[in-house]
Amino acid sequence: MSPSGVRAVIRGTGSSLPERILHNTELEKMVDTSDEWITTRTGIRERRVAGKDEPLSLFATAAGEAALKSAGVAADDLDLIICATVTPDMPIPATACIIQDRLGARRAAAFDLSAGCSGFIYGLSVAEKFIRTGSAGHILLIGAEVLSKYVDWQDRTTCVLFGDGAGAVVLGAGTEPYGVLASSLASDGRMADFIYVPAGGTREPASESTVRERRHFIKMKGNETFKMAVRCMEDSARTVLAQAGLTTGDVRLFIPHQANRRIIDAVGGRLDLQADQVYINIDRIGNTSAASIPLALDEAVRAGRVQRDDVLLFAAFGTGLTWGAAAVRWGW
Ligand code: ACO
Repeated sequence: MSPSGVRAVIRGTGSSLPERILHNTELEKMVDTSDEWITTRTGIRERRVAGKDEPLSLFATAAGEAALKSAGVAADDLDLIICATVTPDMPIPATACIIQDRLGARRAAAFDLSAGCSGFIYGLSVAEKFIRTGSAGHILLIGAEVLSKYVDWQDRTTCVLFGDGAGAVVLGAGTEPYGVLASSLASDGRMADFIYVPAGGTREPASESTVRERRHFIKMKGNETFKMAVRCMEDSARTVLAQAGLTTGDVRLFIPHQANRRIIDAVGGRLDLQADQVYINIDRIGNTSAASIPLALDEAVRAGRVQRDDVLLFAAFGTGLTWGAAAVRWGW
């Protein structure tokens, strides 16, 4: 809490998905897998996939526009745009600046934030401090990914998992008891090679051999990541609940990063949450990394599953490794 009692509240939400649906049965024709394996091991039945001419900024801008509309905030009133992503339009410049231009948010500063699947939580924690300290009045926080363009469609261990899309929230100043109650962030770079794209940066710039050796695609140690994800998401969730003086019984809706249905079930079980306290859309959306939580939040809000005074708990885990959680009381 700031001395003035100002808290960052979520004023509106929005999301955007590609039209193209890719069902597990189509993947059966592309790699050695089965609908049955994907469904039982991940909980995913289908995901959305961007078209050839559809970059990240397309979905991120649409999600941002929808969030501004639901918040009743004009683009001109934004002080800051944060785009959490690991799949930008281009390596240079930040996609947040492209979004700033598309929205006509002339007063807004803009930057991208790279924290993999934890990007939305990292962005929320940063944004709430800008609001709480009075450094910004309105912030558009977008989580967006087009991972389908980084996925090796010959690698069955990753291509079945990821989906594309964007979710966004508009944050503004509110007062107790509403808004971001607590947030917790963590990282451990010793496991940076658990999920990574080896080439295309300054370590291994693009060359004929990096392309030939498929080094511009995502590589993942799935099983090791799985175990860390369960432990770290539970720890972060417990940390923020303790900081906020809450118990899991106070949580109306737990919206975890949708990485794998089995991870969600394991974390929910360890936290003693009931099925109706956990929001799940991974069956339709897949793992959309930084977009996952704001997409699910927007769905839940529009479905009437989030009401004033409800306590929401978010937790995520991703490449870096990074992880974190946040607790929010809905309303303003
Ligand atoms: N179809 C059929 N078989 C498969 C497939 C597939 N799509 N993928 C893997 N297999 C096989 C493996 O080759 C292996 O076979 P083997 O025993 O003969 O060697 C077997 O299935 C078991 O493989 P595991 O990797 O042990 O399977 P696991 O149960 O761990 O599931 C999965 C794999 C789904 C990737 C899981 O580990 C997972 O979800 N991990 C977490 C991923 C994650 O959360 N990433 C973080 C976010 S990403 C980001 O930040 C951008």
